[in-house]
Amino acid sequence: MQNNTFSGESRRQNLIVLDELGSTNDYLKSELANFKPLPEWSAIMARHQTAGRGQRDSTWTVEPKSNLTFSFVLYPDYLNLQDHFTLNMLISLGIHDWLISKGITPEIKWPNDILINHKKVCGILIENKSAGMKIKQSVVGIGVNVNQKQFFDGLENTASSLFKETGITTENLEEECLNLLAFLQNRIENFKNKKLTTNDLLKTYNNFLFLRDKPARYASSDITFQAILRKVDANGQLYLEQSDGIKTYFFKEVRFLMQ
Ligand code: BTN
Repeated sequence: MQNNTFSGESRRQNLIVLDELGSTNDYLKSELANFKPLPEWSAIMARHQTAGRGQRDSTWTVEPKSNLTFSFVLYPDYLNLQDHFTLNMLISLGIHDWLISKGITPEIKWPNDILINHKKVCGILIENKSAGMKIKQSVVGIGVNVNQKQFFDGLENTASSLFKETGITTENLEEECLNLLAFLQNRIENFKNKKLTTNDLLKTYNNFLFLRDKPARYASSDITFQAILRKVDANGQLYLEQSDGIKTYFFKEVRFLMQ
């Protein structure tokens, strides 16, 4: 990113901040596809995303200049392709650590959301590229609702922001982005340096899991059912206890139904 220049940009450490962009994930992916050699942790933040993307082909639309929308690049060649959920846990727990540092107790909603008081404040979109059996490159996109005061379009009961849940306004979004990136780096460095194992991550991840050991409704294929979420395993499979026993589900095979 060293040689690029943007109008209206400000640069601090390895974070570039732009006023407006389609999607920060798409931006980084196209830079990388054009053989721009970006150092690991190169990050781009948009004050306003006009074409933000979410999971399952959804859109990520939030109030401009009130929230965090950013992406960064990792080269996690220390992870096999089959261990892709480890990266998901590292990111979720890094965000969790950051919120804990603010005195907030969040929950992790499998597989890509962070909740406060049962409402979604953060979504994660990780897009991997593999080489052989390894993850060669990951673009990690994170959207955090920070200062937004109102939610519309049916999101009133399911989405929230740090402001709505704590009453605290974050004055400097750029600084907060750097702060969050430091927590993410800390998690990942500790894993790379083997201070943390996948099992350690799994234990913590399961401890903070939304709806764990509680009955809730789920949908899979064209059926809905009641189940109790028991755990998530290292492959990212969800274990749901139903009347006829425990069944496991990968991402996209099941979804929570908000009651
Ligand atoms: C989800 O909850 O569905 C995932 C949302 C991810 C949104 C972030 S905002 C920054 C980055 N750029 C995108 O286009 N999406 C991610």
